[in-house]
Amino acid sequence: MLKQINETADYIKSKVDNLPKIAIILGTGLGALVDSIEDAQYIPYTEIPNFPVSTVEGHSGNLIFGMLGGKRVMAMQGRFHYYEGYDMKEVTFPVRVMKALGIETLFVSNAAGGMNKEFQVGDIMIITDHINLFPENPLRGKNYNELGTRFPAMTEAYSHRLINLAKDIAKENDIRIMEGVYVGTSGPTFETPAEYEFFRIIGGDAVGMSTVPEVIVANHASMEVFGVSVITDLGGKDITEVPTHEEVQKAAMKAQPKMVEIMKNLVSRI
Ligand code: HPA
Repeated sequence: MLKQINETADYIKSKVDNLPKIAIILGTGLGALVDSIEDAQYIPYTEIPNFPVSTVEGHSGNLIFGMLGGKRVMAMQGRFHYYEGYDMKEVTFPVRVMKALGIETLFVSNAAGGMNKEFQVGDIMIITDHINLFPENPLRGKNYNELGTRFPAMTEAYSHRLINLAKDIAKENDIRIMEGVYVGTSGPTFETPAEYEFFRIIGGDAVGMSTVPEVIVANHASMEVFGVSVITDLGGKDITEVPTHEEVQKAAMKAQPKMVEIMKNLVSRI
């Protein structure tokens, strides 16, 4: 694994002159952020040694290097989901490569179903913590001390500093912002009403099929993490609307300008 990480990082270093310290995983709801990246250099995943190739509809696969809010950034356009069949090491491989490139701060976004009864479709939720309900942990197996410690703490998996900064930015821009706990599940099924209810009772505010593996690995690698969810549907025992991929995409598109505003400002201020 170490050899693969270094090989991939070396390839990227050979292509990119100035490496950033900030990386952004452009999940659902944040795709349009690419339009704000200036002097963008695209590297398709298909050209990157050892990189998996993104398959799911609505996600194209590129690493993008450029400037955002006056800062040098790299962005992942398209991520690797566990439900697509990638194993946890593949899902989180790009985060390992980011670390090898010198990334210190990771921003992630996703679409999620809301269980919190205060939430509305189109809300943005700052992720304050997560519950890992994926069937495995990306750190299972041999630990490489070069990458991080065997038993990493997850006490502040999402940086309090960045959470507070994002709340300030939302307030200044008049954006309704929620906070909550993200439950990560394998998917690809959306939840049964009983499952949404269960996730709410155990302390979850929103549920989705990504983010947790990457955030675990980023913490293992001592990165500072900020995550945000766009609430694209609501679930629970009293909710009869049926979530669909199309509806999720539509709701995420609508919330996108708010997500982009928060991320752009956050990048410029850290
Ligand atoms: N459940 C799981 N993942 C999701 C959902 C949901 O309701 N909405 C968007 N991603």
